[in-house]
Amino acid sequence: MEPSTLIITYTFIILTTLTLIIIKLSGKPRRKLNLPPGPKPWPIIGNLNLIGALPHRSIHQLSQTYGPIMQLKLGSFPVVVVSSVEMAKAVLNTQDVTFASRPKTAAGKHITYNYSGILWSPYGPYWRQAHKMCIMELFTPKRLESYEYIRNQELKYLIHDLYEMKPTTVITLKDYLSIMNVNIISRMVLGRKFTDEGSENSIVSPEEFKKMLDELFLLSGVLNIGDSIPWLDFLDLQGYIKRMKKLRKKFDWFLEHVLDEHNERMTSEGESFVAKDMVDVLLQLAADPNLEIKLGRDSVKAFTLDFFVGGIDSSTLTLEWAMSELLKQPQILAKAIEELDRVTGKNQWVYEKDIPNLPYIEAIVKETMRMHPVAPTFVPRFRPERFIGKAIDVISNHFELLPFGAGRRMCPGYSIGLKVVQVSLANLLHGFKWMLPHGMKAENLNMDEIFRLSTPRKVPLEVVLEPRLPSHIYFL
Ligand code: HEM
Repeated sequence: MEPSTLIITYTFIILTTLTLIIIKLSGKPRRKLNLPPGPKPWPIIGNLNLIGALPHRSIHQLSQTYGPIMQLKLGSFPVVVVSSVEMAKAVLNTQDVTFASRPKTAAGKHITYNYSGILWSPYGPYWRQAHKMCIMELFTPKRLESYEYIRNQELKYLIHDLYEMKPTTVITLKDYLSIMNVNIISRMVLGRKFTDEGSENSIVSPEEFKKMLDELFLLSGVLNIGDSIPWLDFLDLQGYIKRMKKLRKKFDWFLEHVLDEHNERMTSEGESFVAKDMVDVLLQLAADPNLEIKLGRDSVKAFTLDFFVGGIDSSTLTLEWAMSELLKQPQILAKAIEELDRVTGKNQWVYEKDIPNLPYIEAIVKETMRMHPVAPTFVPRFRPERFIGKAIDVISNHFELLPFGAGRRMCPGYSIGLKVVQVSLANLLHGFKWMLPHGMKAENLNMDEIFRLSTPRKVPLEVVLEPRLPSHIYFL
């Protein structure tokens, strides 16, 4: 929402609720709590007036004034912000269980079947079972390895599409990266992809599927006023709830078909049935009489949506940011190419097993995730060298870098996300010479971001590319 619209909305809220404020403030004795420092909250809106279009930047600014632990009030809810390694350790390690829940959002309620998945579900027995299912069944190293051929194939399709491009064509890189990631997640989770034109037995057209996903990503990350000020929820001031309900209907129809297809195969194959994709695994778990808390059909659909929300935009946007940073800083791009030529050579592609031999590419991915984290925190400055020779990993052993979160709520898909980003970036750099469109200077490349569930570029990256390897390599 535009800042001006926000101001109008808040003014409206303040005026129409004046009476309620008076009732609320009418002489109730208050207990003095020992709270962290923070800006004085307004009635009703709390500190929402201090949160701009890029909330993580506003919060960072405030933390400069109030220190590494501060209290904010976002609407009706008190929020504690921690912003140092020590404080992150204290919250996400020592006190992890206390902070492992999530606020109940409209997206979790209206899109994801009343918090029936993992992403939006509050901490408790249901989430613990969901988390266990992820660790023990859905994201095991063996299962992820069994999907490596899917990741390879989809990356090769992308490289092939880019190779076919005319040398002067300007492309919007995100569109291509997004198709690859949608296909990887669709094939791993649903067992097939839905982006192929003219596919006979497809339930939705590629355009419709893409539209549904775009709406899913957008609505999963919106700042819905009713989430901060629950008693205003029924007004649906921004119209998001209406859109969420409509989207849920569309996805429900789509996922019902997907589940029916999976159930049919399960029934027809009987004893010899082997789970291939994550929906298969979820349906097997739903049929398991020994499961502590019963999983219904809605839960299976909710998990599926969570994997779409968690797994697609995160990798796409990280890759787009990495390419943007490299095009902005040609000396870093040149160093990456030098590493690829020296280690991989010009007659082969990079595979997941090769990544440990490409420490500079690994460092670029870490630096991109530090600068443009899916859950944003840190202050920007692009210098991959900071990670060279240091054993800082991305999976929360070091609280300096937490692109996947930390503690109990840490991303269960981090391994897929990391593999996809590293190997795709390595091969995109290896396979092509990348340039900004004619006439655009690196220093003029706009690096503004916008705030969603993740932080995409404000202006999608446009590029021109040329193959840089012998032509037969592109047909391997
Ligand atoms: C570059 C790729 C990725 C990044 C940067 C990323 C980042 C994150 C972050 C920051 C969180 C929140 C952690 C917290 O609350 O402490 C998260 C949660 C989650 N992610 Fe990822 N993720 C990525 C890829 C994936 C993939 C590929 C999947 C699944 C296919 C996935 C599924 C999830 C789920 C289900 C959650 C919710 C976990 C819970 O609430 O218990 N993510 N991710």
